[in-house]
Amino acid sequence: MIKQKYPHLMAPFSVKGIDFKNHIFLPPCALSHVTYGAPNDLGIAYMEEKARGGAAQVTQGNITGPGGYGDNGGHFNRYFTNCFTDMAFTELATAIKEHGCVASAEINHAGFMAGLAENSNTPPMSSMGFIRPDGVKVVQMTEKMIDDAITYYANIAKFLKDCGFQMCMVHGGHEMLINQFMSPHFNRRTDRWGGSPQNRIRFPKMILQRIRELCGEEFLIEMRISAVDHCEDGKNIEESIYFVQECGDLMDFVHISAGCGPDKAYLTQEVCFQPEGLNIQYAQAMKEAGVKPLVVVMGGIVSPEVAEGFLAEGKADVVAMARALMADPQLPNKVRRNQEEDIVPCLRCNHCLGSNKTAFFEAKCMVNPHMAHEHRTRLIPPADCSRKVLIVGGGIAGMKAAMTAADRGHRVILAEQSPELGGAIKFADYDSIKVQLKKYKDYLIRQVSKREIDIRMNTKAGKELVQKVQPDAIIVAVGAKPIIPDIPGIQKENVMYAVDAYFQPEKVGKKVVIIGGGLVGCEVGAHLANTGHLVDVLEMGPELAPEDNPFHHFGMQAYWAERPILGHVNTKVTEVTDQGVKAVCEDGKEILFDADTVIYCVGLRADTSVTEEMKKYCYDVVPVGDCVRSGRIVDAVETGYHAAIDLA
Ligand SMILES: Cc1cc2nc3c(=O)[nH]c(=O)nc-3n(C[C@H](O)[C@H](O)[C@H](O)COP(=O)(O)O)c2cc1C
Ligand code: SF4
Repeated sequence: MIKQKYPHLMAPFSVKGIDFKNHIFLPPCALSHVTYGAPNDLGIAYMEEKARGGAAQVTQGNITGPGGYGDNGGHFNRYFTNCFTDMAFTELATAIKEHGCVASAEINHAGFMAGLAENSNTPPMSSMGFIRPDGVKVVQMTEKMIDDAITYYANIAKFLKDCGFQMCMVHGGHEMLINQFMSPHFNRRTDRWGGSPQNRIRFPKMILQRIRELCGEEFLIEMRISAVDHCEDGKNIEESIYFVQECGDLMDFVHISAGCGPDKAYLTQEVCFQPEGLNIQYAQAMKEAGVKPLVVVMGGIVSPEVAEGFLAEGKADVVAMARALMADPQLPNKVRRNQEEDIVPCLRCNHCLGSNKTAFFEAKCMVNPHMAHEHRTRLIPPADCSRKVLIVGGGIAGMKAAMTAADRGHRVILAEQSPELGGAIKFADYDSIKVQLKKYKDYLIRQVSKREIDIRMNTKAGKELVQKVQPDAIIVAVGAKPIIPDIPGIQKENVMYAVDAYFQPEKVGKKVVIIGGGLVGCEVGAHLANTGHLVDVLEMGPELAPEDNPFHHFGMQAYWAERPILGHVNTKVTEVTDQGVKAVCEDGKEILFDADTVIYCVGLRADTSVTEEMKKYCYDVVPVGDCVRSGRIVDAVETGYHAAIDLA
């Protein structure tokens, strides 16, 4: 028997006769894989993959009903119920349970956040009536509407039970309807549904009671709450403990999340700027108060050692991980087999929630090219015939291509001109924030080293190498080169490229000006501000890091707010001098930003020269990653992966 490194995480347990094979749950992480309100094949494959990966329980996200549909991606709508919907939900529960995993689904009602399309006959409703910023009138719920809403939750729970789900999650957190009653931030009613904590918990308590009445004791209930609302007039942990104590007999698990609105969403959906497992203090407070339900902690937990620590110290009973299992659904199985060095680390970047401030649900993971495409890409197809593949460049794209090609049975030679693998993310070794990115780089290096790949360091690609290796195909992954902005003074001694600041920290003075406020410039600035520098970031455009997703962006802003770093938009640099950087600011005036060191970070230019040269010596040449189009990690991973999959 394998000795478990993570005994608390891996220990089985049972509740009311339902067996859980370990202490890892998948919290809801719904994508828009839905057809007429029911999970489609894509959605079922996406959820089944998490069950197959060894999680003890998997929760389908955001099941709603009439009037409850949210603008936030909740499209699984019981409203459209018909025999097709019933079959699809039954198939989903079956797909989860077939892997010895407990099937759960989240019941939600978005309240005032409800979308308009589905609600054309049902206006958005909430504890309070008001006009939304988009001009839509929100109706204050009457006694009848409240009673209907209570029935709404219970009916969906019964529907889930009938479809074969063994438990449900009631979404009582964030800015959803239940928290619109529970939180004094939203609820200013003066009747029996508002005012005192006792009145504000009446709505969720009656929901739980009615679910119990309709579904029986053996149907498990997990209640997601915001233990704290993260706003001044919101509820605090004492109130949340009071609620759980009052409703202790009505729920089997209390699921600890936090936050109640988009402005502090980075505290609900923690990014790399926040510590791992931010909510553990609230879970611990619940445990110390001796609440009856089992306490599930979630929020930015991505490492098994952190999860194990929480359980071993008795701060929580169960750990829920969403993004960690999206990055690597096999995490629980790998933990069980003591193969944690093979876990693909989640970067806590939130790219999966939308790649920029407006486009939600692009449904891509930075590090897992299968995520959300499991229905067609889950298995890596073996090669029809084994070919000799030369991969030029040992960065992300090159290493991903090398791993994938080797897994398919090709003979792989990986040539890297420098003495180290890692390419453009080598800097992560020195970044004070990007802990997960460093883990990802180390993971890739470990994976190529483990496989039968002929790795040649200090090897420049050229005619000589191709003649020696005689490859059938070449994948070029040589990256990009930094663009040097055409500014008077840019060649001065006090100027350096952003990434060099990591490798030569001794050359970076106290006062730093960064030219270029894209995502990279902002992140380098955050690191420098965190390591004792005073930083100004100058951006010519109207916005800092426009390519960033909102969760990451707000998280970074909060991080900046506590450090000596300032961003200046609509600021055009005119000259670099020995004293700093001259720039024309928003008000049209030119000023000097004092700096000991000036750092430029205005983008990269794809290096196509190696691809062109390789094409002279081989018919089958595929460029990948930054040397095609300077992009993001997700582009490097995907293009590297697909080039290797397409090797014919
Ligand atoms: C792609 C994605 C979809 C999500 N969908 C839902 C959802 O449908 N319902 C919900 O309550 N939370 C949803 N969440 C939030 C997660 O349940 C979880 O609270 C959040 O990801 C933080 O946990 P983590 O750090 O383990 O990822 C979603 C998160 C992600 C990344
Ligand atoms: S996109 Fe980023 S945050 Fe989301 S699962 Fe992948 S690595 Fe994690």
